[in-house]
Amino acid sequence: MSRAALRVSLLLLAALGRAGAGSQQHQEQGGEDLPPSKEKGTGHGHWTYDDTDQWGVDYPDCAGNMQSPIDIDTTKTVFSPHLRPIQLSGYSLPASQKLKLSNNGHTALLELPESLAITDGYAQQYRAVQLHLHWGSPSGPGSEHTIDGRRFAAEIHVVHYNTKYYNFQEAMVYPDGLVVLGAFLEVGPRENPYYQEILEHLYDIQRKGQQVLVPGFNIAGLLPANLKHYFHYNGSLTTPACYQTVKWTVFNQTMLLSRGQMSRLLMSLRNDDSKALQNNYRLAQDLHGRQVLASFQTTLSSGDDTRAGDDDSRTGGHPGSSFHAGDVLAVLFGVLFAITALAFLLYLYKHRSQNARLDSQTKSKVIYTAATTDNTA
Ligand SMILES: *[C@@H]1O[C@H](CO)[C@@H](O)[C@H](O)[C@H]1NC(C)=O
Ligand SMILES: *[C@@H]1O[C@H](CO)[C@@H](O)[C@H](O)[C@H]1NC(C)=O
Ligand SMILES: [Zn+2]
Repeated sequence: MSRAALRVSLLLLAALGRAGAGSQQHQEQGGEDLPPSKEKGTGHGHWTYDDTDQWGVDYPDCAGNMQSPIDIDTTKTVFSPHLRPIQLSGYSLPASQKLKLSNNGHTALLELPESLAITDGYAQQYRAVQLHLHWGSPSGPGSEHTIDGRRFAAEIHVVHYNTKYYNFQEAMVYPDGLVVLGAFLEVGPRENPYYQEILEHLYDIQRKGQQVLVPGFNIAGLLPANLKHYFHYNGSLTTPACYQTVKWTVFNQTMLLSRGQMSRLLMSLRNDDSKALQNNYRLAQDLHGRQVLASFQTTLSSGDDTRAGDDDSRTGGHPGSSFHAGDVLAVLFGVLFAITALAFLLYLYKHRSQNARLDSQTKSKVIYTAATTDNTA
């Protein structure tokens, strides 16, 4: 009898505990799509973000089926334990090394020296050539990639080419030619000193075609500290000619800029029509059956959580670790409850048989008496 009760109470409480633990799921809700705009270019020809539908006319690849950016649906990404942390080398530059920052009418573009390279995370070696940004306007965010439909304030792209090719121009037409590292920018509480190295020069390149020399700094500071959690897929350049030669890495950790820095990014530049250079992002393109890999586990599953310790506190915690804690708690409470229930049942059982023997009329008294003599019964 009491064993059955124990089993029932254990099961009940374990189930309750599990339900409680499971309910702390993370949720990122959908964002809003905005009108298009512009971006980086190695480009010839004229294109704008107002006619993204027409890009395919002059640049056939833009109408291809491996285009970027995309929406990354974290419920559909495939966890791949083979995706190693991205490793950067030569990213820290002395102030004496000057870098060209320019307004090309589509974005602010910082040219990078050949010393910067990706030395692990990809099967081959890639060398950096330039970085640039995509952003929105005061009325809406402007990242190119979206996560579960959510658009972030802005996005940085660091463009690399495969060292087996002579240069970027040559590499960009080969399927394994390019790698772009992408990260999202959001508004946070503090000024970001790395982004400030670029932002403080935007006033000098307000007009299309203007350029300025910027002292070198640690370019890696523009990318997340956590280079091991990212999404990976095969895609394209997000501006004409949209070559489908980019192996994309989109980091899970986001970068934080102060509100003032973000507004400087949105407000500083003008395009070739001398209008504010804003909303320079392309909308998400169809996946056409492509797979998006994740270097980490994005959803709660019944499988093991193999992640090592986290250093991505800035993006908010992942729910994985609380799952196990919840299970342990559930079992603990179940056992405690069962012991209590068992003791109570034993107690009842003993007194019921005693009561029967005593055949008493005053139950309270009998119980009291019995309790004091329990040990001897
Ligand atoms: C990208 O393309 C290469 C070459 O076709 C292929 O081997 C690789 O599996 C693809 N990657 C993904 C994530 O689909
Ligand atoms: C990071 O990964 C978590 C877990 O899948 C996801 O909820 C979140 O939206 C991701 N954020 C970014 C910026 O990738
Ligand atoms: Zn870009």
